[in-house]
Amino acid sequence: MVALVWLPGQETPVHDHVSWCVTGVYEGREVEERYRIASTGPGERLVATERLVNSVGDVNGFVPPGDIHVVRNPGPGPAISLHVYGADISRLGTSVRRIYPAHLIDIASPAPSTNDRRSAR
Ligand SMILES: [Fe+2]
Repeated sequence: MVALVWLPGQETPVHDHVSWCVTGVYEGREVEERYRIASTGPGERLVATERLVNSVGDVNGFVPPGDIHVVRNPGPGPAISLHVYGADISRLGTSVRRIYPAHLIDIASPAPSTNDRRSAR
């Protein structure tokens, strides 16, 4: 289990993971954008599929493969999230399997749908 503290504006690269994970927001908010691989090989492209705004108490999970996302703290304060992984991250040194360069994202694809769970409650 890992607790991550995100400063306002801080974000991850687009990445996937070495194992399943369950995350929960303890403080602040996190914006998560999810992607799928639209094409592979030399013309590999990623397409945005979903945009979540995760607030205090929101819990999400993912299972590889296909668990590609970017996470950022939109501010204004710090965000803290708890992560439970299905692997010993301290032994592996990272939860990230692969980082996807930004140029792989197909910016011509439709904007992802937004799921702001705060307004859904
Ligand atoms: Fe992640």
